[in-house]
Amino acid sequence: MAHHARLKCINPDCNATFDIDRMTFTCDDCGDMLDVAYDWDAAHKALGFDRNPATFTARHTAGAGYASGQTDARLNLSGVWRFRELMPFYRSEDQIQTIGEGRTYLQHTPRLAADIGLTSHNLFLEYEGLNPSGSFKDNGMTGAFTHARVVGASKAVCASTGNTSASLALFASITGVTAYVLIGSGKIAYGKLSQALDYGARTIQVEGDFDACLRRVRQLAEDRPELGIYLMNSVNPFRLEGQKAIMFRILEGLNWQVPDWIVVPGGNLGNSSAFGKAFMELHELGMIDRMPRLAIINAEGARTLDRIVNELKIRWNGGRCFRDAVRSEYERMDAHNERAHTIASAIEINRPVNLPKALRALEVMNGVVRSVSDEVILEHKALVGRHGFGCEPASAASVAGARMLIREGIIKPDETVACVLTGHQLKDPDATVKYHCGIDMKSAQDTAPRVDVRGEHSNVPVQVPDDLDAIIEALG
Ligand code: F0G
Repeated sequence: MAHHARLKCINPDCNATFDIDRMTFTCDDCGDMLDVAYDWDAAHKALGFDRNPATFTARHTAGAGYASGQTDARLNLSGVWRFRELMPFYRSEDQIQTIGEGRTYLQHTPRLAADIGLTSHNLFLEYEGLNPSGSFKDNGMTGAFTHARVVGASKAVCASTGNTSASLALFASITGVTAYVLIGSGKIAYGKLSQALDYGARTIQVEGDFDACLRRVRQLAEDRPELGIYLMNSVNPFRLEGQKAIMFRILEGLNWQVPDWIVVPGGNLGNSSAFGKAFMELHELGMIDRMPRLAIINAEGARTLDRIVNELKIRWNGGRCFRDAVRSEYERMDAHNERAHTIASAIEINRPVNLPKALRALEVMNGVVRSVSDEVILEHKALVGRHGFGCEPASAASVAGARMLIREGIIKPDETVACVLTGHQLKDPDATVKYHCGIDMKSAQDTAPRVDVRGEHSNVPVQVPDDLDAIIEALG
């Protein structure tokens, strides 16, 4: 297939475009972020795609032969590449690097809907914990690894609060790429760290937080081209191409009827940016007739976006006039040495790299931003668990945020809401056990219950002697 994709600067006053065969992801002319932009008509003509979503759905049953190297069958089984006509930046299908990511489902949860005040009972959970590495990151990583193959990269790096490193390490181990991950010296959930170590990534713990690690990996990848290391964080627009598929699967689950709301936790804002781009493109392609609204939910201890949008009133504004305001806010944060702190370690991020693209998504999807406290996050994590969907703390921010918006009257009780559950419960069992038991299981000394972390849904194990009557009594 001829190339119908280019990298394009998101700044409307610049609009520079670049060949996609490059390993750096900032605009040479103005330093802004880049999008992958397509000549859709040419691409779809070449692919013989008539923009009918039935093409994607038919592929659910077209997987035979996937294990013996049949490219088409493997791609059809991927919940990302099943939609490949909507991200046609590869030259040939054999460049696509897939490990069976994105085989996740949109789950209808009417009882949970009632619990959070949706009389429509139309709450849907997009359960991304089912991915091979246990988080949504695999959707993006398959895009970035495919582009890495297009440019012939053999080394890859990321900064991570845990899930990106787990996903990068997994893809690298399968595709034979050398993996480097930089993690901060603060919290990292052991479920995630154990993955990076097991998959054999060279893991470098930097004295600093995620924001510091991200600055360093950008220097490694962008300022030191002689190292030849490919950058896998979500500043990489090919990551976001893959993450668009999370929205395609939501639409597929709803028979391409657009829900009223998409609710997602906000950390580095890659997802929100990707979702906005997905809906803009589907609208442009005539595949949907209206846009859903977007709600991005920060943790209170990492609420840069919430502050920027709701207090400083900074907007995308057609791509103009927001950069100076954001820069001076980041300078103020630097001057006060402001750091992020939240139990939702995945989103413990204060300087979200995709901020401009997320502001754009908020504009095109008429979005809102809120932040929720750690206590509220843990309560909703347990509530989601009660309904059979285990997620990590950051993921529960979406359901907690949905409930907050329902209470505020912004989400109407009769609307249809899709919340993205970004990562699996087993990523961070310590947070879960601590919530239920009130103790930190990691530290043997620390056996005194700390009642303050228990909450409404805490499910405390009952201790009994080895005695049948006592056990029967404990059955309650
Ligand atoms: N949820 C989970 C479970 C995450 O791991 C992350 C990000 C987010 C939400 C936020 O997503 O950045 O698209 O807004 N984790 C990154 C990491 C930062 O390194 O694993 P975002």
